[in-house]
Amino acid sequence: MAESDVTTNDKVIIFDTTLRDGEQSAGAGLTPDEKFRIARQLQKLGVDVIEAGFAASSPGDFEAVQRIAREIDGPVICSLARAVPGDIDAAWEAIKDAKRPRIHVFLSSSEIHMAHQMRKGAEDILGMAVDAVTRAASHCKDVEFSPMDATRTDPEYLYQILEAAIDAGATTVNIPDTVGYSNPVEFGALIKGVFDKVPNIHKATVSVHCHNDLGLAAANSLAAVENGARQVEGCINGLGERAGNASLEEVIMALETREDHYGAKSNVNTEEIGPSSRMVADLFGFAIQPNKAIVGQNAFRHGSGIHQDAYLKERTTFEIMEPESVGWRGEAIVMGKLSGRAGLRSRLGDLGYELSNEELADLFPRYKDLADTKREVTDFDLQALMSEQHRFSETDQQYRFAGVKVEAGDMVTPAATVTVGLPNGESKTVTAQGTGPVDAVCKAIDQIVEQKCNLREFAVASVTDGIDAIGEVTIRVEDTEGHIYAGRGGDTDIIVASAKAYINAINRMGVLGPDQTNITFTE
Ligand code: KIV
Ligand code: ZN
Repeated sequence: MAESDVTTNDKVIIFDTTLRDGEQSAGAGLTPDEKFRIARQLQKLGVDVIEAGFAASSPGDFEAVQRIAREIDGPVICSLARAVPGDIDAAWEAIKDAKRPRIHVFLSSSEIHMAHQMRKGAEDILGMAVDAVTRAASHCKDVEFSPMDATRTDPEYLYQILEAAIDAGATTVNIPDTVGYSNPVEFGALIKGVFDKVPNIHKATVSVHCHNDLGLAAANSLAAVENGARQVEGCINGLGERAGNASLEEVIMALETREDHYGAKSNVNTEEIGPSSRMVADLFGFAIQPNKAIVGQNAFRHGSGIHQDAYLKERTTFEIMEPESVGWRGEAIVMGKLSGRAGLRSRLGDLGYELSNEELADLFPRYKDLADTKREVTDFDLQALMSEQHRFSETDQQYRFAGVKVEAGDMVTPAATVTVGLPNGESKTVTAQGTGPVDAVCKAIDQIVEQKCNLREFAVASVTDGIDAIGEVTIRVEDTEGHIYAGRGGDTDIIVASAKAYINAINRMGVLGPDQTNITFTE
């Protein structure tokens, strides 16, 4: 039996790496506080393992991993580490206060990586793997080992390195399809090969970690489960390096919906999938495509008359899952202008937000403003309002949006007058011209704040249908060293939303700025 702290058999262990591989998505970057909020939601979702980060990669990540390890109870808390002593010791230092800590050591094993990334031979790599796992096991009884680029590794060498890692103390061996190169038939056969050819494999849990470069990550992960793998790694909304990792919600719901086929499933509380997905989209600033399986806006909408007709007669004609089972709450109209504090608190409670009296007092005037602007306030509007509230309170000590007026159109030079609350409690108003109203708003804000940055991306999406919908603006700015920071803002007026998003990006730049580190394998 594996010494690992999680049980195997017919249960598939769900290993969430949204806070590590997901955070490696280009243009992502979370503050320690944002990471903690996501970890708390992952705990509610009931994932088995949270890879909280890569402790050695930066002081900010160390701090985030440590806080998650100390305060999140239930899941195993894991930190990634390169196969070098400093990383392994830093990982342990960050997670040692967790009730169930895990160190995850990785090392490249394919010829192409060994030659060009590591610049080392197979014998050296094998030795490094054994030394690293031995060191990790001297700290922690739960150790995961990943031979990076496993699917392009010579299978005989892969079996050899896995056997050596298990002998050295690895309790989980993870088979990464690092570059998303494999396909379900090939990957399933590789996993079968691992069970057939690694003599001590019964002492470890076999895990998989699939990237989505060819859109096959979830399918490859499921093929691995068919062949005996009992841990699947992935990210909420399929975030991760390049095209991302396996979408955890897709893997979880495939196991749930087709238990008849897979004969194994997860212990996840599937009703928390929707709230988790929306929180991750919001804090990462990556919108979910409408047709995304399980969590897209259209995932449970029926467009054609033929489908609608049959669906209304019998839901299962065109639906294989119940929307409620993944926390889909639709667009039910819940609140209006006359709703009071108790009604707001109760509805937010249903949506998973527990508010203190102070928080409710702070939120209520904003809710009233929204209800005055919109005839009907939906659950999606309330979620947008809560996101705005979090952004507002998290950046308390920073710049605050205080007001904006614009002149725009093709008969004038666009201009914006923006008022911003300063960190010292005062406020400043500046007027600037631009190529359009948003450009003018950003130029005015640039003259107020100290940080220097360039706008790189601007996107607006509506939270609900209708002309009075809340517009959610996502902005990405680049600092003078090329680091990218996302900012979000929501309002029924998209110019206001744009100003809020730009200020949010600048505030996040202030929090994250010096902490962005780019480490390589060869130190
Ligand atoms: O994709 C990969 O190989 C990884 C490893 C660190 C597991 O992310
Ligand atoms: Zn990865």
